[in-house]
Amino acid sequence: MRPTDFPRHLWPLSVHFYQNRLFLGRHDLADLAERLGTPAYIYDLPTIDHAIAAYRHGLEAWPGPGLITYASKAWLSLPLAQLLARRGLGLDVVSLAEMTIGLRGGFAPSMLHLHGNNKRPELLRRAVDAGVGAIVVDNLHELSLLESMRSAKDMRLWLRLNPDLLAPTHAYRQTGHHGSKFGMTWDDALAAARRIAAHPHLHLTGLHVHIGSQIFDLDPMLASIERLIDLAVAIERAGWGRIQALSPGGGLGVPYHPDDPAIALHTLAEGLCAGAADAWRRRHGGPLPTLILEPGRSLIARSGVALYTVGAIRHLSDGKRIIAVDGGMSDNLRPALYGARYTATPPRNPLDEAAGPARIVGPLCESGDFLIEEVWLPNVRPGDALAIPVSGAYHLSMASNYNGTLRPAVYLHTPDDLILLQRRETIDDLMRRDQPLSF
Ligand code: LLP
Repeated sequence: MRPTDFPRHLWPLSVHFYQNRLFLGRHDLADLAERLGTPAYIYDLPTIDHAIAAYRHGLEAWPGPGLITYASKAWLSLPLAQLLARRGLGLDVVSLAEMTIGLRGGFAPSMLHLHGNNKRPELLRRAVDAGVGAIVVDNLHELSLLESMRSAKDMRLWLRLNPDLLAPTHAYRQTGHHGSKFGMTWDDALAAARRIAAHPHLHLTGLHVHIGSQIFDLDPMLASIERLIDLAVAIERAGWGRIQALSPGGGLGVPYHPDDPAIALHTLAEGLCAGAADAWRRRHGGPLPTLILEPGRSLIARSGVALYTVGAIRHLSDGKRIIAVDGGMSDNLRPALYGARYTATPPRNPLDEAAGPARIVGPLCESGDFLIEEVWLPNVRPGDALAIPVSGAYHLSMASNYNGTLRPAVYLHTPDDLILLQRRETIDDLMRRDQPLSF
């Protein structure tokens, strides 16, 4: 491969070549794999900051106030929460654990937004007690729970609209169509707004929509924003509240594979915000609410690199190799679950000529345990490192202990340092909840 053929846009900004070796800043990635052990995940801080800057740039196209809230389901840990809180972001959470990690990481409660389609009464109560910035009401059952909650505290609520739109993405990631479990119909949303207006402690402050994830086409997203704005108009006309926050969710796509659309994040973010501003002017025209963007994947995916070590290699009669590495569907379920396509590179001699196609598989007892169906790779030998880019989102947060796999160590690369964010899981961690028999 010539250096110019290297899909640089898939890799963290700090990745570069030196003498046919791949470096992350001043670290030789192959040496890192040996030193840190594998599988290991490394996040590159400059790449995270670059994505935040792209969203800030995008929000300049929205003439009112704006806020970036990170969708913590993409991956959350205490140190990441600390980093993002310091950068002034908000946090989208869906569970008590995400909420607690966010608060311990230093987010002000008002910067947290609680999502989810089936929030249990206990979670709602804890969110109210903590004073989160918004509880995003998904359905009328949830509203009944909030109405009947014995609390004298004021609750700021958003309504999640189901706009009945099909997002152009994998079926498991579509969340805005009629048959989806998420969000309220137009009529339910109006009924909810009326009920909230009649309640002494409930306050309708915002509207939310999220039609899906890994989307490159802005048109359906803008169509969902238009419906949200129309709902704001209808609610305000009826005198049921004033919409101060407009949240079109997350969902912007990122390229994972050289064949994926390579649209720059700042272009997508700007298009989304400019389109939202235009829609607001045309359909509402009043003072601008805060536009709340909720990216998960696009904020963090590209910053993450997964490092593995090659083990067994099988040579098939058609010339294809099956290369087994020491991680798989236990740390990256996306290929098995969504047919997600990735690319890989040996960080030592990455520019060598490809020796043919290879299937990258894991060590788990399951044929669905693969990371890449086909990638053209140079010759690799057992013990060599293999790096997979765009590994920052929805890998570790969906990781499992299948076959007793221990979850990987996670590091942060900064221009000065390599910092441990999360140590590798241990067998003791795995057994911590087990109660030995007492008889
Ligand atoms: N807001 C809400 C209400 C969401 O449900 C999600 C993602 C986001 C924001 C963030 O979306 P993002 O910017 O990351 O696209 N496991 C799947 C993705 C599931 C997304 C779930 N919700 C995958 O690996 O592709």
